[in-house]
Amino acid sequence: MKVLVTGGAGFIGSNTVNYLIKKNFDVIVLDDLSRGFKKLVNPKAEFIKGSFGDKKILSKALQGVEAVIHFASFIYPEESIEKPELYYKNNVMNSVVLLEEMRKKNVNKIIFSSSCSVYGEPEKIPVSELNPLNPISPYGETKKVIEKILELYFIIFGIKSISLRYFNPFGPNEMHKPEIHAIPNFINAVLEQKPIQVFGDGEQIRDFIFVEDLVKAHVLALKKIDEIKFDFFNAGTGTGHSVNQAIKLIFELTEKKTEINFLPERIGDPKKLIADTKKIREKLGWKPESDFKNSLKKTIVFFKANNNF
Ligand SMILES: NC(=O)c1ccc[n+]([C@@H]2O[C@H](COP(=O)([O-])OP(=O)(O)OC[C@H]3O[C@@H](n4cnc5c(N)ncnc54)[C@H](O)[C@@H]3O)[C@@H](O)[C@H]2O)c1
Repeated sequence: MKVLVTGGAGFIGSNTVNYLIKKNFDVIVLDDLSRGFKKLVNPKAEFIKGSFGDKKILSKALQGVEAVIHFASFIYPEESIEKPELYYKNNVMNSVVLLEEMRKKNVNKIIFSSSCSVYGEPEKIPVSELNPLNPISPYGETKKVIEKILELYFIIFGIKSISLRYFNPFGPNEMHKPEIHAIPNFINAVLEQKPIQVFGDGEQIRDFIFVEDLVKAHVLALKKIDEIKFDFFNAGTGTGHSVNQAIKLIFELTEKKTEINFLPERIGDPKKLIADTKKIREKLGWKPESDFKNSLKKTIVFFKANNNF
C-alpha cells in the first residue's frame, strides 16, 4: 500500500515512517520543514518538500496513494493563543485543501493526529471519548474542528477517517524547537547538567505514551479503516505517572542528578490527565506494550547520541 505521510519530518511522523517502511509500505513524506528536520526522514521514503496546503504539490504527492496519515500541524497551544490566525490557516484551512485534493484524486482514507487537548479540562478521569470537547486554546480547537470536518467529509463524500487523540507522546526523534514537552526537556537538562524547570509541584499526573507504541496504532488504523469507516479514539496508555516520578526515573537511568526549579502552575494545566482506553483496545485491537522505565531508557539513549542535534 502506498501511503502519504504529511509531517513525516517531525517527531511522531518520522517514527511512523520508520515503522511503515519496516512493514513494507511504500511511503511518501510531505513536509515543508518549517518545524521538522530532513535528517529525521527515513531515506527509504520518497521526500517532497512542500506544504500540505499547496494544491500543485499535493496533486503530485497523492499520485497512486491509497491512504494519507496526516501529522503536519503547528503544535504549540501557547503560540496558538498569540497567533490564532496562523493556527487556523495552517491546521484547519490547509487540511481542507488536503481533503479536497484527496477527493479529486479518489484517495478516500485518512488517519488524523488529533490530541487530548480537544477535551480541555476534562469532567471525569480517566477521560473517555464521550467527555465533552471544550478546548482551551486555538490549537485544541483546530483539532476539534478538523475532526468535525472529517465527519462531514465521510457523510458527504465517503472519505473514511480515523482520528487518534494522542495523550502525552515521548520518545526518540522528539526535537521540537522550542521544546515544550516535559520528558525531552528533563532528559536534556540532566544530560547538560542544567536545572530542570517544573510547572507546579510536579505531582500532576500525565498519561505518557511511548512513540513506538503510538505508531503501531496508526498501522492498525490503516488496516481497519475500511471496516471502521469513521471514528475517533483516545491514544494513551490508561496509566498515569507524575512529573516527579518521571524525573526520579531519569535521574536513576542517567545516574546523574540536577537541580529542580518549581515554577508557578500554568493556567489550564489539569492536575490529572489519563485516557480511558477501552474504545481503542476493543475496536482497534491496540494496546500499549512498552513499560515506562524501559521507554525512558530508550529515549535517553537517543538524546545522549543526539545532544547537539
Ligand atoms: N507531540 C505531542 O505531544 C502531540 C500531542 C498530541 C497531538 N500531537 C499531534 O501530532 C502531530 C505530530 O506532532 P509532532 O510532535 O510530531 O510535531 P512536529 O512539529 O515534530 O511535526 C510536525 C511536522 O509538520 C510539518 N508541518 C507543519 N506545517 C506544515 C505544512 N503546512 N506543510 C507541510 N508540513 C508542515 C513540520 O515541519 C513538522 O515536521 C501534530 O498534528 C500534533 O498536533 C502531538
